[in-house]
Amino acid sequence: MSDIFYISTPIYYVNSHPHIGHAYTTIVTDVLTRFRKLFGDDTYFLTGTDEHGQKIVESAAKSGIEPQEFVDKISQEFRDMWPQLHIENDQFIRTTDPEHKACVQQILQKIYDQGEIYLKEYEGLYCVGCERFMDESELVDGNCPDHQNPPQLYKEQNYFFRMSAYQDWLEKELAQNENWVYPGRYRNELTQFLKAPLQDLCISRPKSRLEWGIELPFDKNFVTYVWFDALLNYASALGWPDGEKYKKYWPNVHHMIGKDILKTHGIYWPCMLKAAGLPVFKKLVVHGHWVVGGSKMSKSLGNVVDPLAMKDQLGVDALRYFLLRDMSLGEDANFTEELAVTRYNGDLANNFGNLLNRSISMSRNNFDGCVPPLSEVGEAEENLRNTFIEGVKTFREYILAFQPHRALEKVAWLSSQVNKYIDSCKPWSLAKQSEDRERLGTVLYTALDMTRILVGLLDPVMPEKMSEARKALGLGTEKIEFDKLTPGLLESGTEMPEPKPLFPKMKLLVEEKTASEVTQTREKVSTTADESKEWFAFDDFQKMELKVGHIKTCRKLEKSAKLLCSEVDLGEGRLRSIVSGAAEFYTAEELTDRRVLVVANLKPVKLMGEVSEGMILFSDDKGKLVLIEAPDHVNPGVTVR
Ligand code: MSP
Repeated sequence: MSDIFYISTPIYYVNSHPHIGHAYTTIVTDVLTRFRKLFGDDTYFLTGTDEHGQKIVESAAKSGIEPQEFVDKISQEFRDMWPQLHIENDQFIRTTDPEHKACVQQILQKIYDQGEIYLKEYEGLYCVGCERFMDESELVDGNCPDHQNPPQLYKEQNYFFRMSAYQDWLEKELAQNENWVYPGRYRNELTQFLKAPLQDLCISRPKSRLEWGIELPFDKNFVTYVWFDALLNYASALGWPDGEKYKKYWPNVHHMIGKDILKTHGIYWPCMLKAAGLPVFKKLVVHGHWVVGGSKMSKSLGNVVDPLAMKDQLGVDALRYFLLRDMSLGEDANFTEELAVTRYNGDLANNFGNLLNRSISMSRNNFDGCVPPLSEVGEAEENLRNTFIEGVKTFREYILAFQPHRALEKVAWLSSQVNKYIDSCKPWSLAKQSEDRERLGTVLYTALDMTRILVGLLDPVMPEKMSEARKALGLGTEKIEFDKLTPGLLESGTEMPEPKPLFPKMKLLVEEKTASEVTQTREKVSTTADESKEWFAFDDFQKMELKVGHIKTCRKLEKSAKLLCSEVDLGEGRLRSIVSGAAEFYTAEELTDRRVLVVANLKPVKLMGEVSEGMILFSDDKGKLVLIEAPDHVNPGVTVR
């Protein structure tokens, strides 16, 4: 039976134009939905726009138009952008939709009738940018840290939702449900936040100050607070309380959000759902922020990245690939054109694109434009097939665990394994001897068949490019089903058209800092060195090869209480075996799949009968070893200096 997978993005404020951050959230949601579809799930993908509140009114006034005309215009920009980025949402909700307004009023009335909403006089500091009251302790030099403005002081009567009554319940939910918030550290942030008493939530704005909102059903003089209105979109979109979609998809809800709106989704929203009698969502998935050249994106810095301009430069699918591959979901990531082009050239042009192109060209040239026949399968083919069977399984697990960056890293690795297989089998030499023809067919068939699997895995990320790749492999336009992503299913004899490079190499736009600039800085620093210490020269340090490694597997050495033996990928096309004395501090499972720093040119030694070809670095705090990790998005083999 298929699983139900309902996923939402935040609904975006229409006070500014869509930028790369909005595009990322929507693309990652799109990709996860496409994967779940591929795995056979029944999916529903919701996005939309958040159109009420004070900051929208202020932006409309600046543009000199009425709020309704203003929100219609910007909402349409979001709606028009998504198909251009190959996003296939099932629904686009607007908080100005009449059905949404009716739902918000119905839920407010329900909670009011239960006696959980009350009126009181309130004085507080309000940040329009955040659209919420702020505590004085949150301010930095009197300003909101996110918007760099002083909040405004309001003293007025307002309606409050008794959120404080849900504190114990929420604490328990968080404690009991480990997987409710991903990655786990955001769950810890919420738990931490709940250590202070939860305040009741102000859910109204007097019309005397703000008219642009949903009127409270029980008091005409007020409109609904924009967050209370906005969060309910996730249920109103499905036709709560008795719509067919609501019955089918709720509460299998996964909310994809940026870390900036953790509190509203992790605290307000579950309390609101509980009060309204709706089952709480299944999972909150929280991603980090794209920063641009190391700085936060902001209008005033003029570094806001326009997704359409980036798409024109990289191509839509390559942009989608870069965004997913270079952001470890949950962490911040840096966005620069250079990084995007480097990733494109490394993974798409040189690795996967080259594989596709050369396997097709060599097969066409030697086998009348067709997929060659497969003859006797040897050890190299068996190994590659098994690597792929295992790889596809792991890939799926990464996607289900909301780690698309890891899944794509796996694909890049699998692709490089096929390239290495081709290099070691040397089909160009086999082609010269007629007695090697069967072997040539087997090698090229295997390369094409593995490429077909990679095309299937990459399809949800790069749908247009992979449709072209399927045509190039003679497969037609139909997507490849997930259970067909297994070796041996490519049909020999299939005709393949002449290949055009799918990912032609791109030029880097900005030159990197020259080596001499770097050295000059070093020379300056070295003059301040402490003479009493036993220093060694930079040249000595350079003798050491420090690299990022990826621990693929790890096991405990039975004969020893202290030693673990890891198989580490250093980007060399083979795995190194490295023994570490960390068994008292880490289990083999804990070390598996970690990204580590490795001294790569230590002379190999034998320890307890195992060859160790390097050293994994740990910090040593009075004998207690702690692994030093490299960020997930750094590739194995990258130099550390
Ligand atoms: N309207 C609210 C959300 C209401 S949901 C019931 C809102 N809108 S927003 O337009 O400000 O969008 C915020 C979201 O946009 C973030 O949570 C994140 O998903 C995305 N991003 C905005 N800037 C971003 C980056 N710099 N990087 C990555 N994503 C970011 O908040």
